[in-house]
Amino acid sequence: MLFDEYKYFNYKFPEPQYLGAKHSLISWISQHIPKNIKTALDAFAGSQSVAYLFKQMGVKTLSNDFLNFNNQIGKALVENRLTKLDNDDLITLFQNSPQKQDFTLMEGIFTDVFFERSESQFIDNFRANIPLLDSPYKQALAFTVMNRSLTRKITMGHFGHTQALVYAADPERVKRNRSLIRPIRDLFLELLPKYNNAIFDNEQENQSFNENILELLPKLSGIDLVYFDPPYCDSHADYQGFYHLLETYTEYWKDKEFINGIKRYEPKRYSGFDTKSEVIANFEKLFELSSEIPYWLISYNNRSYPDIQTFEKMLSKYRDVTIEHKTYQNGRGGKGSVAGSKEILFVCKPKINIMYQQIKN
Ligand SMILES: C[S@@+](CC[C@H](N)C(=O)[O-])C[C@H]1O[C@@H](n2cnc3c(N)ncnc32)[C@H](O)[C@@H]1O
Repeated sequence: MLFDEYKYFNYKFPEPQYLGAKHSLISWISQHIPKNIKTALDAFAGSQSVAYLFKQMGVKTLSNDFLNFNNQIGKALVENRLTKLDNDDLITLFQNSPQKQDFTLMEGIFTDVFFERSESQFIDNFRANIPLLDSPYKQALAFTVMNRSLTRKITMGHFGHTQALVYAADPERVKRNRSLIRPIRDLFLELLPKYNNAIFDNEQENQSFNENILELLPKLSGIDLVYFDPPYCDSHADYQGFYHLLETYTEYWKDKEFINGIKRYEPKRYSGFDTKSEVIANFEKLFELSSEIPYWLISYNNRSYPDIQTFEKMLSKYRDVTIEHKTYQNGRGGKGSVAGSKEILFVCKPKINIMYQQIKN
């Protein structure tokens, strides 16, 4: 086991640019993962940074996010054992698509909002070619690297503002971030080796899901540890507002409206964890549904709703809880990672009296 751990830690998770990604907290989180677990679930996986950690630890990894562009990262880097994109695949992806006339969604919606027309046409053409790749893992990798390239192209790495083209015309901004004016094709080719090199086989049946966690949990069993990193309710963590474009590109919606200046799709997917009026009831449901999973790790923030004391009280009905925390020195924006705010980890273990009962029986 130890040897395997070292072996898998030679692989490097490609640095994400995602609100609330735990990439930089991985070594802290890993200290609180019990050594004897065999199967772990990353329930709100986002960029998949923690799911990838589980995979590196040699554990059977289940991963889930209700947004499909995140699920594609899970398919590409967690579920995938060995499939990479090679030169023939690049020829397919960059060829002039025979179905070009049916793939004009990005051009129609996002030209002059986030991209110049030629770039929107380029990504539409690339999107038309993705289904021609002969493996779902190649397709997932193509989505993953393209979505990451689109994020690089935009100031602040999200699509909740419409300044991208304004900034691309500002030499001072471009000096600081050359990606603003680089062709998306170049960004894709630069990022691809990082993703190809991150693919490995930990000899487990890993799986990535794309469901609301409240619907997925009743279908799963045999999990030893679950990691919950829900959106931090009440701290402006609007994932569908920030990353709508990536979901629109992946889903290539036929049945949505595109609203406001940013052209977010409407209606949104239902989360249940992002509005104050229902978050408490849904946490209760989440904990009930997780009652068979012995270990729970939960990321939280001191600016979230409900507050830490209330949340601990809710948890202590089900598990013995200890609270670990880390203070952010530098605010890097987004999801409560403001200077001085605290990243919390609730470490939850089976209640001692329950363990005692189980030993007795
Ligand atoms: C704080 S982020 C997770 C960040 C992740 N740990 C990482 O390292 O990138 C929360 C995630 O929960 C997802 N999400 C929100 N509501 C959900 C639900 N009901 N079921 C599944 N995923 C959900 C969001 O799409 C978002 O990616």
